[in-house]
Amino acid sequence: MSEKKIIIAIDGHSSCGKSTMAKSLAKQLGYIYIDTGAMYRVVTLVALRNGWINNKVPDTQKVINGLKDIHITFKWDEKLGQNTTFLNGENVETEIRQLEVSQNVSPISTIAEVRHEMVRQQRENGKNKGVVMDGRDIGTVVFPDAELKIFMTASPEIRAQRRFLELSEKGDKVNFEEILANVEGRDKIDSTRAVGPLKQADDALVLDNSNLSREEQLEWTISKVKEITEEK
Ligand code: DC
Repeated sequence: MSEKKIIIAIDGHSSCGKSTMAKSLAKQLGYIYIDTGAMYRVVTLVALRNGWINNKVPDTQKVINGLKDIHITFKWDEKLGQNTTFLNGENVETEIRQLEVSQNVSPISTIAEVRHEMVRQQRENGKNKGVVMDGRDIGTVVFPDAELKIFMTASPEIRAQRRFLELSEKGDKVNFEEILANVEGRDKIDSTRAVGPLKQADDALVLDNSNLSREEQLEWTISKVKEITEEK
């Protein structure tokens, strides 16, 4: 068996378990995992902290000017078994998952300059291959030549239910209808924005996990990786 390292691009709708799958996959393969949604969330957090967003409308110029002071890094936390996101060395993992960030991230992610800078950093992270990256435009824009592209999806209700449980378990007071509205709203903005819209790459494999367990979807994906990396 050869040890060919590849780029695995995982795109799809919000809250359909992309990061859960990407993390398990990276762990099993010994690859780096990059959560690109977390990167857009960090930019949003900075904008919220600085008052650059009013009534969900960002002051585009202020966000663009602020980009040069945003340094995003990830560290694998062995104890928690999760990736931790840092903003200029500060652990912001919990803060970027809060509903306020989720509710403001879409307009931030439509700013072309924000996307260009994030894409630049993402390419830098993947230049040595051996990386699993999840997001919306990984297989279409960031790495159009990725060896394996997966497009994940599940019904909006199932996705909202999953996010509801995730936030409730963390102790957040959340409302299912509000989360469902957020999931559907983000689908719409993600799919219709001008730059880097959520779109299935022509050569992506579709994975609808509405009725699949985590183990089943991981097994399916690993079999696809093996088809590419193992010499026959
Ligand atoms: O995957 P997530 O829900 O954490 O992503 C947060 C937001 O960031 C989501 O609303 C869409 C945006 N995003 C994007 O525009 N491009 C990416 N590659 C990843 C996420």
